[in-house]
Amino acid sequence: MITKNKLTILAIETSCDDTCIAVIKASGKKKPNFEILSNIVSSQVEIHKKWGGVYPTLAKREHQKNLPTVLKKALDKAKKPKVDLIAVTIGPGLDPCLWIGVNFAKELSQLLNVPITPVNHIESHILVNFIDKLPTFPAIALVVSGGHTQLILVRSTGKYKILGETRDDAAGECFDKVARILGLDYPGGPAIAVEAKETRSPSANRERISVKLPRPMINQKNYDFSFSGLKTAVLYNFKNQTPKTRKSKQYIKEMCSETQQAIIDVLISKTVKAAKAYQAKSIILGGGVTANQELRKQFRRRIQKEKLSFKFQVPSSKLCTDNAVMTAVAGYFRWKKMKKLEKRQDIKAVANLRIT
Ligand code: KG4
Ligand code: ZN
Repeated sequence: MITKNKLTILAIETSCDDTCIAVIKASGKKKPNFEILSNIVSSQVEIHKKWGGVYPTLAKREHQKNLPTVLKKALDKAKKPKVDLIAVTIGPGLDPCLWIGVNFAKELSQLLNVPITPVNHIESHILVNFIDKLPTFPAIALVVSGGHTQLILVRSTGKYKILGETRDDAAGECFDKVARILGLDYPGGPAIAVEAKETRSPSANRERISVKLPRPMINQKNYDFSFSGLKTAVLYNFKNQTPKTRKSKQYIKEMCSETQQAIIDVLISKTVKAAKAYQAKSIILGGGVTANQELRKQFRRRIQKEKLSFKFQVPSSKLCTDNAVMTAVAGYFRWKKMKKLEKRQDIKAVANLRIT
């Protein structure tokens, strides 16, 4: 049983294709203070590039191979601290990948003789926002990543209600699939963002091709999303072009700009609508897609333009994409809430875990 107010948490995150271990120090009684001692992310991008997406069996093998080295790096960087608590992502995510992390955490917990707290990956994308300051509640959280697109009402730390989610592809998945159609690298989000940025520069080519894509479900009353139609619209448009146009820089840039804008329009519109309906005091973002600078900029602009009273919080780009600092922060809040942590042997990976 941990009784002290200062504790060192080691966290493990292997839900998708990044092998992540972080060490943080959490202190303070009421308002927590967090210090990041190390944050190691071993990316598998180069391996998954040729598939245009994550290949689960390969990802599992890589996690297995990388974890010992990543652990050593994380402990060395943190100057070999005495660990009080282990936090591990148990879901949602890719089942074989989650199990590698969970089993590794169990072995380490036995070896170090410290307890483990299981962590929900979606919750950790939300709670990493609390690293600097706690938001004002109720808050609307938009979590957008390669596997998820969810709008969540956050009544307080640990009290959630899913208001809406994607009915098919996640927003990040749409970025990745469109990038693949256009012959850009994986992950598609950052690659599309780079191309899209250039169309907005003053020196951008004036011979515009004028691509117009749909904004799926933007006018529907619910808070659900759908992005597979957007990807299909890109595919049809691409197929209708001559081979010369398909390869032209101008076409690719315009398609990237319009895809990014279509996704941004839908995400902002639904989030602001939910924030108004639930009289939220803050809007908080999380997940890889929220690393997108244009999305962040346009969110701020919309709040300013409409003089909306919501506070807007988004983690640094490095903490938007998968990392284990977020797992550690979520582990801290869970440990604070629970009177008794579960037994090591009872901790399991749950690939389709829902936030509640
Ligand atoms: O949260 P994350 O790292 O992993 C999952 O939990 O899925 O999110 C990865 C996703 C990928 O689909 C990637 O294309 C997207 O986030 N992404 C971005 C950007 N950086 C990463 N999408 C748009 N703009 C970005 N700058
Ligand atoms: Zn994620």
